Amino acid sequence: MVQRRLPRPSEVLPLIGRPDRSQTRLQRRLARCASVADIRLLAKARVPRAVFDYTDGAAMSESTLNRSRDVYARVQFTPRVMRNVSEISLDVTMLGEPNALPFALAPTGFTRMMHYAGEPAVAQAAERFGLAYGLSTLGTTSIEDLAQARPGVRRWFQLYVSRERERAEQLMHRAQASGYDTLILTVDTAVGGIRRREIRDGLTIPPSLSVRTIADMATHPRWWLNVLTTEPLEFATLTSTGGTVGDLLTRVFDPGITSAEISWIRDNWNGSLMVKGVQSVEDARLVRDLGVDAVVLSNHGGRQLDKGNVPLEVLPEVVRAVGSEIEVYIDGGITSGTDIVAALAFGAQGTLVGRAYLYGLMAGGYDGVVRVLEILQKEIKTTMQLMGVTSVAELDPSMVCLRP
Ligand SMILES: Cc1cc2nc3c(=O)[nH]c(=O)nc-3n(C[C@H](O)[C@H](O)[C@H](O)COP(=O)(O)O)c2cc1C
Repeated sequence: MVQRRLPRPSEVLPLIGRPDRSQTRLQRRLARCASVADIRLLAKARVPRAVFDYTDGAAMSESTLNRSRDVYARVQFTPRVMRNVSEISLDVTMLGEPNALPFALAPTGFTRMMHYAGEPAVAQAAERFGLAYGLSTLGTTSIEDLAQARPGVRRWFQLYVSRERERAEQLMHRAQASGYDTLILTVDTAVGGIRRREIRDGLTIPPSLSVRTIADMATHPRWWLNVLTTEPLEFATLTSTGGTVGDLLTRVFDPGITSAEISWIRDNWNGSLMVKGVQSVEDARLVRDLGVDAVVLSNHGGRQLDKGNVPLEVLPEVVRAVGSEIEVYIDGGITSGTDIVAALAFGAQGTLVGRAYLYGLMAGGYDGVVRVLEILQKEIKTTMQLMGVTSVAELDPSMVCLRP
């Protein structure tokens, strides 16, 4: 028979959790997020719907994005056990330089729209974790301002070759002069993809004041206050002429671009050259033959061609075809550290991540990006330890498969 008694206050009081006063409320909220999916939900609550949809959405039926994400649910590992994984390293070499974790932060446009701290905040988090960061041609911080704000971060510059070739040449020279060591040439954008959420939301850059947006101010006053009291939201390297984002992209992209441009770029750029947006073995071979240093298997996070193929499914064949000569990276649909480990086991040199860090940025600026990177780091490390490997080099295709 159990004897019951009244609890004493001295026993109960220590059990009552007190908030950690060294952290802000937002930091505590972020700390309670256990996954990138949790951060995504927080982001959704903190920014206007059009901003969230712009980031979260993809082209047309969004099937390219959904399939690129869903494929990671089919990953199945075969771990090894009893292999002393007390000390492990997560770093890789990317284009001749060390990267502390096996992923880099992908170039994304309009970043100051997600949070007023924008690209410099993302670059600061990248620097803290020892990661490379790609600044987009459609960035909202200029090439020079970012370099000045975060001189210590490894910077890559992403180029869209527009109809105005001299502008692209100038951008390359400016990036080179500001210490960006790698050019990412994005090639999956002959024209802008059709993004239905943007059409429905009536998204414009900069955001226009309409009855709808004014109504939105009531629900997201902090976001609006930040937009209206900081530097106007604009493309730092392009002049916006109004219209929807789709209109702008159609002006920036050049449907006439061919692989001949790669030689022209080689003449104007003397750092590493990475071609992003390749989606077939044939194109991977083609760009390898043109002398690029790396290829990113990418469907632009599903934002361009609808019903496109899934980078992870193409990866093994591409690695077999060109992996001994150039570095092969992959992106699209990565939402956890385990996804990154799977891509590495299938043969990728590393991955890029896009939305994952943007959810962090929308949820909490710099602190939000840091939280996402912490989550990914912990998940990569734990997955590798549980697979019985102590370095990325030990991961190989025999340890992973895709369930039918
Ligand atoms: C909001 C957003 C903006 C993007 N802007 C660019 C861009 O300006 N240039 C570019 O090459 N890729 C851009 N991308 C594609 C990313 O570089 C990357 O390929 C993609 O986000 C990877 O998929 P994930 O978001 O599922 O990780 C963008 C992606 C998103 C989500």
